[in-house]
Parts: sequence; C-alpha cells; structure tokens
Amino acid sequence: MMVKSKSLDIVSYIHCLTTTSRRHHVVSSILGGREIPWVEKFRPTKVSDIVGNEDAVARLQVIARDGNMPNLILAGPPGTGKTTSILALAHELLGPNYKEAVLELNASDDRGIDVVRNKIKMFAQKKVTLPPGRHKIIILDEADSMTSGAQQALRRTMEIYSNSTRFALACNTSSKIIEPIQSRCALVRFARLSDQEILGRLMAVVAAEKVAYVPEGLEAIIFTADGDMRQALNNLQATHSGFGFVNQENVFKVCDQPHPLHVKNMVKNVLEGKFDDACAGLKALYDLGYSPTDIITTLFRIIKNYDMAEYVKLEFLKETGFAHMRICDGVGSYLQMCGLLAKLSLVRETAKAA
Ligand SMILES: Nc1ncnc2c1ncn2[C@@H]1O[C@H](COP(=O)(O)OP(=O)(O)O)[C@@H](O)[C@H]1O
Ligand SMILES: [Mg+2]
Repeated sequence: MMVKSKSLDIVSYIHCLTTTSRRHHVVSSILGGREIPWVEKFRPTKVSDIVGNEDAVARLQVIARDGNMPNLILAGPPGTGKTTSILALAHELLGPNYKEAVLELNASDDRGIDVVRNKIKMFAQKKVTLPPGRHKIIILDEADSMTSGAQQALRRTMEIYSNSTRFALACNTSSKIIEPIQSRCALVRFARLSDQEILGRLMAVVAAEKVAYVPEGLEAIIFTADGDMRQALNNLQATHSGFGFVNQENVFKVCDQPHPLHVKNMVKNVLEGKFDDACAGLKALYDLGYSPTDIITTLFRIIKNYDMAEYVKLEFLKETGFAHMRICDGVGSYLQMCGLLAKLSLVRETAKAA
C-alpha cells in the first residue's frame, strides 16, 4: 500500500486560493505591521475565533455561554492556543469586570509558595460583585513550572474559595500538575494544529499584511512550524521583514533548518541504493554546521511524508526513532548518522528481496 504525500495537496490548495496576479507580486508595504509582533496582533480575542481543536474549543464555548466555569487545566504543546483560550474565555465571561475579577500569573511572575499563600489567597478572599453564574478567575499560565510545594499550597485554597473563585491552569504536560489538583479540575486537551488549520490562519495574515509570497513559501513555513501556530506566525513575520518575499529559500534561511529538499534527496538516494551519495549529502549538511538533532528532526518529517511502500516507511521511522534516542543520549557523531543511513539501506534491501 502506498501512503500519499501531503505536501503536494497543500501547494495545489494554495494555488486554488490565490489569484494569479496576487501570487507573484503582491506589493508589500515597507513598514506594514512591523511594529507589533504578529502573534500578538492576530491573537484571537473570542473563543469562537480559535482555530483547530474543535472539541476543546466547543467545550470552552459552552462555558463562555453558560458561565459557571469549573476549575480548568488546559494541556497541550506550545503555540496551540492555550493562553489565548483562557484569556478569551475570561474576557467573555467577565466583560467589563475583567480587570477587577481576574488575577493573571505566568511563569515570569514569582509563584512560589509565599505568593500562593499571600497574593492568591488575598485575591480569592476579595469581594467583587459579579452577575450570577460568574466567578473570579485566577489564571496560572505555564503552571507546570510551579514547584510542587506551591501546587500543594494551592489545593486547599482551590477548595475553600470555590464558591467565589475558579482557577484556570495552562501547561504543556498535565502530568507535571500534582494529582490532587488534577482531580479538582476539568482537563481540556489541546493537540498540535493541522497543516490546513495553520494554512488558513497564515492566509488571513498574509492578506491583512499584504505579504508577498509564493505557495511553496507558505508550505515551507508550515513544514518548519510543525503544528505550532506561534512559530508559524513568527517565521512568517521574520521572513517578511527580513526578505520582503516569502519563498522556500528565504524561509529556510530565516529558520536555519536543513533544507528539506536536501534531506529528501538523501532519502531518495537511500531508496535508490546509492548509499555513497546519501552519505555525501549527509556530510554536506554536517559541513554546513547543522547538528545531528536538526538533521534527524527534519529527516523524520521527510520520511513521514515521503511517498514509499508502507512497510519500508514503518521500518525507516523505527530506525530513525532509535537513532534519535541515541543522539539524545549524547552520541551524535557523524558515524551515528552514517550508521542510520546504512540501516535504512539494509531495510530497503530486505524489502526488495521479499
Ligand atoms: N488555535 C489558534 N488559533 C489562532 N491563533 C493561534 C492559535 N494558537 C496559537 N495562535 C497564535 O499563536 C499565538 C500564541 O498562542 P498561545 O495561545 O499563547 O499559545 P500557547 O498554547 O503556547 O499558550 C497567539 O497569539 C496567536 O496569534
Ligand atoms: Mg501559553
């Protein structure tokens, strides 16, 4: 069975969305939008504007409509809209009372045990008159960086003041939140955004900022962002302000990742039995200064989207995974990567013989 590559679909999709005149020379205003980071400028202010993770967003929308927000933990990878969702939800719930009724603490604030005992408790005790079904909200962003001591101090506060104050925690991994707190909260999971979801957002920003681009440039941004909307927008802005034109080459220059075409060639050579050429490609990447981690991360993504027999792909991914593990253990030599290419070549030989 063949697994179809996704990348081509995206290019043709962008082609459909863009008119020919736009595609090639959109005049970008020289200073347009460079003052504010686009991640902030285009941060959704309403829960309904958040892209992707439909189930999670739908749940939050119900809460925004009905009030009575439970204690919440939002967990998921970076740049998927956790902070944005909490802020939007708090604004929708509290409207004009936001300033008074919301306490926002993120990783850059001190959130040690003293702050939990004093600042958070004081806020929880504060009297604010709110409409029925609304509560004060304490937002603890990046809560997985709180010490477990501080989290322990939180659990009692959470219970005692639950009739007037609710908590919203955002974190990357929910397992870093102590269990007693987890059991007091409803967990909302966020996943990486799909390529289509990121593309939709990028198209909106590109139109609003009059960015000059070719579809392959956006494809490259989506590739480098890997499901992280923040990174996608940052890379788009960096490429736009650095080069004034978003194409593949400029994007990979800005992001400083190994060019996927180069890595793709390596895989192609392996599949065609040209082991020496594949090694030469690898050597070239090493000479350009890319670390084994850079190379193997790109390699993994290339293999995942490569058009090849399913059995071969699965074996390739397995071997790449093992090599990644060894690199993470500290053995990131050229030999290690060559060994990986050799293993991949063997897989191909076996598949061919079978
Ligand atoms: N689901 C999303 N929909 C629209 N924009 C998003 C989404 N996720 C992230 N963004 C963009 O990325 C920026 C950072 O998102 P944020 O919510 O802070 O991510 P995190 O999940 O790391 O807290 C936002 O300002 C917004 O511009
Ligand atoms: Mg965040």
